[in-house]
Amino acid sequence: MNLQPVGNTEIVRKQVYQGHPSANDGENKPTEITYPTTEVVGHGSFGVVFTTTIKETGEDVAIKKVLQDRRFKNRELEIMKLLKHLNIIDLKYYFYEKDTHGEVYLNLILDYMPQSLYQRLRHFVHIPSAMPRLEIKCYMYQLFKSLNYLHNFAFVCHRDIKPQNLLVDPDTFALRICDFGSAKQLKPTEPNVSYICSRYYRAPELIFGATHYSNQIDVWSSGCVMAELLLGQPMFPGESGIDQLVEIIKILGTPSRQEICAMNPNYMEHKFPQIKPIPLSRVFKKEDEQTVQFLTDTLKYDPMERFSALQCLCSSYFDELRHAQGQLKQIVDSLRLLQFDYSTEFAHLTQDQLQAVRLKLQATQVR
Ligand SMILES: Nc1ncnc2c1ncn2[C@@H]1O[C@H](COP(=O)(O)OP(=O)(O)OP(=O)(O)O)[C@@H](O)[C@H]1O
Ligand SMILES: [Mg+2]
Repeated sequence: MNLQPVGNTEIVRKQVYQGHPSANDGENKPTEITYPTTEVVGHGSFGVVFTTTIKETGEDVAIKKVLQDRRFKNRELEIMKLLKHLNIIDLKYYFYEKDTHGEVYLNLILDYMPQSLYQRLRHFVHIPSAMPRLEIKCYMYQLFKSLNYLHNFAFVCHRDIKPQNLLVDPDTFALRICDFGSAKQLKPTEPNVSYICSRYYRAPELIFGATHYSNQIDVWSSGCVMAELLLGQPMFPGESGIDQLVEIIKILGTPSRQEICAMNPNYMEHKFPQIKPIPLSRVFKKEDEQTVQFLTDTLKYDPMERFSALQCLCSSYFDELRHAQGQLKQIVDSLRLLQFDYSTEFAHLTQDQLQAVRLKLQATQVR
């Protein structure tokens, strides 16, 4: 597909660096590319995103332009350079430019995806109809595949999983995570800010002000995304930071002392009104048992009890994809759902664990 240029098209010529230079590129010498200017597709809190097609290669790309503070390395760029996964937006090239005021901007040239999961869901809400359950399952599986790679291979926590940061192709059901502007490699011994992640998707340990949280915050956010796709609206629509906790407690009930301790031991002295949990089977009346159980496993207060990304992939909720036949099998194959790169996606496992996971996931090896 050729992305449409705007009326007064100007051809831009840039010297760019490779996102993933190969070993024989040496010091990553810049190459020249040209592209027509096109319309802005996204206004984020940190910059603008526009889409175009690179003339030399015919690649459709999105260019994310962010102000670069000269005092610091850009963390988003450093992290994106590390990542190479089918379900993660790929950094193709990058370059810097100065505006007339002397401000420096970093431009990330990324592979293009037609829409965000947020837009896809709005489409169904507008019709109105429910998003097909199988489409949701395909997206969730790819989300957990990318999180398993991020958490266990790159040791990166995304910290802003939400429908706007998940890009999809509704024709193929492909999903890729984007926006690594909040991502960080968490170190168990170093504290991190707890005012991170968009409100509806914030894990309870973040609301409790924890500074030693783990990659498990991404799993909570993913559970919230899935719940939203099923319900057609956010599951925990908090109006403020603390109201977010009220929304969670209204459904999951008051956390036990043990759960509060697991989220943030400094909060133990606080007293909370005792609210009983509503079974998720009542919240998701139309969903089958496996779906409800899967949501229960991802939306656990205690981050250690909450499923890891790999446990999520192994859940029986996804068995339908593994036993697919006919048209669904074609989708599973074209999205390469059962294919794994063992050296990056399973490298953290012992031989016994690998054997068990391989059997469960019916995983075949790529590369
Ligand atoms: N590779 C891409 N292909 C197509 N659209 C994209 C791509 N990357 C980003 N976008 C669009 O631009 C929007 C903003 O991008 P991104 O989330 O990376 O920026 P941001 O400034 O960090 O945003 P925010 O802080 O609001 O999350 C996305 O929600 C999406 O709609
Ligand atoms: Mg974003």
